[in-house]
Amino acid sequence: MSEEDEVIITPSQRTVVDEVAVSVQDVCITYRTTFEKRPTLKQAVMRAGRGKRQVKTVEAVKNVSFDVPRGTVLGIIGHNGAGKSTLMRAIAGIIPPTAGRIEVTGRTSTLLALGVGFNPDLTGLENVLLGGLAAGLSKEEVETRFDEIAAFADIGDFIELPMRTYSSGMAARLAFAVSMHMDPDILLIDEALSTGDAAFKEKATAKLRELVDNSSTMLLISHALATVRSMCNEVIWLDHGQMKMRGEPDAVLDTYIEAMHVKKTAAVMNDF
Ligand SMILES: Nc1ncnc2c1ncn2[C@@H]1O[C@H](COP(=O)(O)OP(=O)(O)O)[C@@H](O)[C@H]1O
Ligand SMILES: [Mg+2]
Repeated sequence: MSEEDEVIITPSQRTVVDEVAVSVQDVCITYRTTFEKRPTLKQAVMRAGRGKRQVKTVEAVKNVSFDVPRGTVLGIIGHNGAGKSTLMRAIAGIIPPTAGRIEVTGRTSTLLALGVGFNPDLTGLENVLLGGLAAGLSKEEVETRFDEIAAFADIGDFIELPMRTYSSGMAARLAFAVSMHMDPDILLIDEALSTGDAAFKEKATAKLRELVDNSSTMLLISHALATVRSMCNEVIWLDHGQMKMRGEPDAVLDTYIEAMHVKKTAAVMNDF
């Protein structure tokens, strides 16, 4: 996402309540993937020859702890592969932590990049219903929101067609519409602010501002640093799975930007 793409929301006076919405305690998340290692890359591409069975272990999140008071808009920043999405998926309850505890008080609604979670063979409306049920609403509650969601997504007759016929932009609009209309106590957004064209972005911005002003609790992963600066009242910087810094947006972002800049100008390519 480029600078011009950034959604600007004026920081509002947050009402942070002395009550924890999300508690992350000593959380570690390790992925174990088994694969067949072949002698050459070409053989690997061709899947030729017999490979040696190997296990790759990735410690995506290492011993991370923090509490999110209700009403906080928490930004999560960090390099690609820092563990942001992994942590978010664990908070959303999609994957379990390998060690540690995550406690979430309230109903979450998750907006992941690329609208994961939709079934391509079902229509948009059917997916909205499933998404609503998964978010903990009753069938009736979802049905009363159908019109509002469809109007917000604004994808016309496509709402009644299987989602495999959607462009990625259309799927993203529906995903955004669904997650915003679930009246979540806690909204989890993973790099999904850049979706849609200018008109939709404006609408999405207004909706987000409404939620921010209503003091919803929000966890926002974004590379759009201006958005993070203007929307969040607290920021966490993840670096290689560890929490490098936590604090006021200005302080964390300035340090992060400086670190990135130093890294780039020094052409240090040891980012693995
Ligand atoms: N499903 C998975 N299986 C194995 N490794 C994964 C999986 N998802 C992510 N990883 C690894 O975990 C690390 C953190 O990834 P991720 O949480 O997606 O980072 P970020 O969202 O900050 O870019 C990376 O090294 C990535 O390769
Ligand atoms: Mg990610």
